[in-house]
Amino acid sequence: MDDPAFDTETDLQTQSILLAAANHDTTALRNLLRNSSANVQDTETGFTPLHAAIAACGPDQNDTNKVNGHTNEDAGGATEEQEQNIDGAIRTMKLLFENGAIWNDLDSNGETPGCIAHRLGLKELYELCVDAGVRAEMLLSRMEEYQLLGDADSDEDEDGEDEVEETGGEEDKMEQVAGGVETLDLCQEDAQGDESTENPKYLASNLTFNRNRLLDDAGNAVMMEWETTLMRTSTELLVPKVGLRVLNVGHGMGIIDGIFQDKKPEAHHIIEAHPAVVNHMKEQGWDKKPGVVIHEGRWQDIVPGLIEKGELFDAIYFDTFAEEYKALREFFTEYVIGLLDPAGGSNGEGGKFGFFNGMGADRQIVYDVYNKIVEFDLFEAGFDTEWKTIPVPNLDEQGEWEGVRRKYWVLDEYKLPTCTFIG
Ligand SMILES: C[S@@+](CC[C@H](N)C(=O)[O-])C[C@H]1O[C@@H](n2cnc3c(N)ncnc32)[C@H](O)[C@@H]1O
Repeated sequence: MDDPAFDTETDLQTQSILLAAANHDTTALRNLLRNSSANVQDTETGFTPLHAAIAACGPDQNDTNKVNGHTNEDAGGATEEQEQNIDGAIRTMKLLFENGAIWNDLDSNGETPGCIAHRLGLKELYELCVDAGVRAEMLLSRMEEYQLLGDADSDEDEDGEDEVEETGGEEDKMEQVAGGVETLDLCQEDAQGDESTENPKYLASNLTFNRNRLLDDAGNAVMMEWETTLMRTSTELLVPKVGLRVLNVGHGMGIIDGIFQDKKPEAHHIIEAHPAVVNHMKEQGWDKKPGVVIHEGRWQDIVPGLIEKGELFDAIYFDTFAEEYKALREFFTEYVIGLLDPAGGSNGEGGKFGFFNGMGADRQIVYDVYNKIVEFDLFEAGFDTEWKTIPVPNLDEQGEWEGVRRKYWVLDEYKLPTCTFIG
């Protein structure tokens, strides 16, 4: 049964925390956080203390802060009052993160604290949110690996129960540091929470091939023609001259494969898992194009065989669908080393690896968090990555999303990665 006295007390506590956060009163906030969580939320606005601390630097709180969408910084330097306000917000946010604040809780407008900072043009505050996101996500992914290792150990260990208990204790500790964040489980061109975009389900679904898009049977866009500029630029960077050996994972609409063909590759391997895409490829005569070898099946099943055969490539491109970031990471961590010729490429400067960088592209902060994580993971896997920023036109204005179930891209800029082996 609900206890009204308890509810009122909890609500008061929540309001006190939100107020202290909005006032950037770190002394009061520190005291309140002794007995309370840093992740309380206002029932109406959905604000957490992080939202409150950031929103307090917005135009309503300081009407000279932002004029016509431009901060005063743009117009010739922040005022002293503004600077103090930002400093206060920084101290408050750091205190909240130290106390386990979650970086990606949504308010009732569907905004994370970082989204508010981005919308208000508060760069320093935005970067704090991005860094907190990177820390949390990396810890969670390490925890997952750790858990997998733990599972493997306990399988072998006869005295498995004790092991599991120990692992749990360590995880609790790490989860406190991570701020208890739920992982984002991003897919390549994903549709979160949509079962049809899990890889096996997608591979069993019917596809519709249109002139400018490829859709699955739930109306999700598997590939769209607007990406052609991105595919063209990737090709220029990965395959700068004719006669190279290329591998493409995921044929889709065949856009990048078509551009690869223009480079008259000596060998052109394509891995494609969806039977309908494979049929379509054959109807279009892809199996008869010069240098083309089609591998029908999931890359997970095909790639080990290619490595065993000693096939080497000068350029590798990876762009699948309905797979989580984990799959991409596995590909470049475990397999690219066995497939990419370190002495290959243009003029022997080393083979190059690229991929469609679309994780989290339905929200700026998630894209920025993932770009940092991907860069770090690539470095750990032994790659140097060069990023090229490409402007993306307004796809809404162009009517690109009409008839598509969900926009997988809402950003103004695409970050295009080109990777080579370090050294
Ligand atoms: C986004 S499309 C690729 C678009 C391509 N880059 C182009 O330029 O048209 C993704 C493709 O990956 C394929 N795919 C999905 N999962 C795969 C897997 N595990 N292995 C191989 N191909 C896969 C899909 O069937 C689809 O054809």
